[in-house]
Amino acid sequence: MAEEMRIVLRNYGKIDPLKIEDYIAQGGYKALEKARSMSQSDLIAEVKKSNLRGRGGAGFNCGQKWSFAYGAESDIKYVVCNADEGEPGTYKDRLIMENDPQALLEGMAICAYAIGAKQGYIYCRGEYPQVIKILNQAIEQAVTKGVLADFAIEVRSGAGAYVCGEETALIESIEGSRGEPRFKPPYPPSQGLWGKPTIVNNVETFANLPAIVENGADWYASIGVPSYPGTKIFTLTGDVNNCTFFEVPTNTTIRELIYKFGGGIPAGKKFKAVQIGGTSGAFIPESQLDTPVAFDNMSTIGATLGSGAVFVVDETRDIVDVAARIAGFFEHESCGKCAPCREGTARIAEIMENINDGFGEMSDLALLKKLGRVMSVSCLCGLGQAAPAPVITTIEHFMADYQAKIL
Ligand SMILES: Cc1cc2nc3c(=O)[nH]c(=O)nc-3n(C[C@H](O)[C@H](O)[C@H](O)COP(=O)(O)O)c2cc1C
Repeated sequence: MAEEMRIVLRNYGKIDPLKIEDYIAQGGYKALEKARSMSQSDLIAEVKKSNLRGRGGAGFNCGQKWSFAYGAESDIKYVVCNADEGEPGTYKDRLIMENDPQALLEGMAICAYAIGAKQGYIYCRGEYPQVIKILNQAIEQAVTKGVLADFAIEVRSGAGAYVCGEETALIESIEGSRGEPRFKPPYPPSQGLWGKPTIVNNVETFANLPAIVENGADWYASIGVPSYPGTKIFTLTGDVNNCTFFEVPTNTTIRELIYKFGGGIPAGKKFKAVQIGGTSGAFIPESQLDTPVAFDNMSTIGATLGSGAVFVVDETRDIVDVAARIAGFFEHESCGKCAPCREGTARIAEIMENINDGFGEMSDLALLKKLGRVMSVSCLCGLGQAAPAPVITTIEHFMADYQAKIL
């Protein structure tokens, strides 16, 4: 754990999260002051140069996204923090908000200054009532201290829908409509909340900003893998000795995550697979464990970094059963707006249940692959596009397990 590198979680355990004075004593809000002394375009150029990329899953360059909203003509603009964190096995955003809420507020205020927004929202999942309380207290303290100047932040609570983490469904939900994704384009930086230019960033993305502004883009860009620099917080679950969280540079390999930080597999059992990035992540076999966890490196092995959830499966687990359960999750969470996802997730879940119960046929595997291909290109949002990945990758890497169930 000594080899962790804490940038986002640098105040974790060192301050009382409910005392803004503690945050300020650690240098808090100095970055915002520095940001406000810069021109908006210089600030955006600095964030762009740091190559900070979104930590919510899509990995988009943060400064570049801001430049779209900055350049959009409108007297009203919004900053929205995506704190939905609906991904099973992920709790990194909760860690940040519970332990250092002012870092998030400071990051949002830096963004607000950069794009010219006066109103911000934190969309927090309803299953985090304690976090919502902490955030409201933190906002109250920041307002009392006057550190946010004329930037106002409100907390909005979700109601337990996975799809509401998708940025346009989240926007619909804040507006009071059903949480269903919108057609894109237009993208939120040009037309988002109430049709106005809106920046949606993840909690971890925002919480990186104070350190970047304070220490400079070059410092940040030199950490980890250059194409996806900085650190990433991972939450480990499943068959590992240390089911906990780590903040590590992005050049850390998957093997290091499991064996060095995770302490390996319990009870002397062997590794079977790891799913990274949350429920829609690919299952990765032993042969690919030496891949660095950075965004593009993961893409080269057909995987995604996603939210940073790491779910380890040992040799004794039934991988077909695991994939079938995940398929059931997506059937449940599909919002139903587009047909490929509504019908596709239900069909995958049905076929997987059949295979898992011993009634499958080998031709089902070809059907699943074809369905997966169709969904990945035709579903309206990332939920349906990525939902087939766990099934497809387990068929790819663990065919013998499927054959055993079917034959
Ligand atoms: C089904 C689905 C769920 C998502 N859930 C989350 C989430 O819980 N938190 C999050 O930050 N991004 C989530 N995203 C990604 C967001 O749409 C968006 O890319 C992100 O909030 C942008 O912030 P970033 O650039 O800082 O990563 C989800 C996407 C999809 C398709």
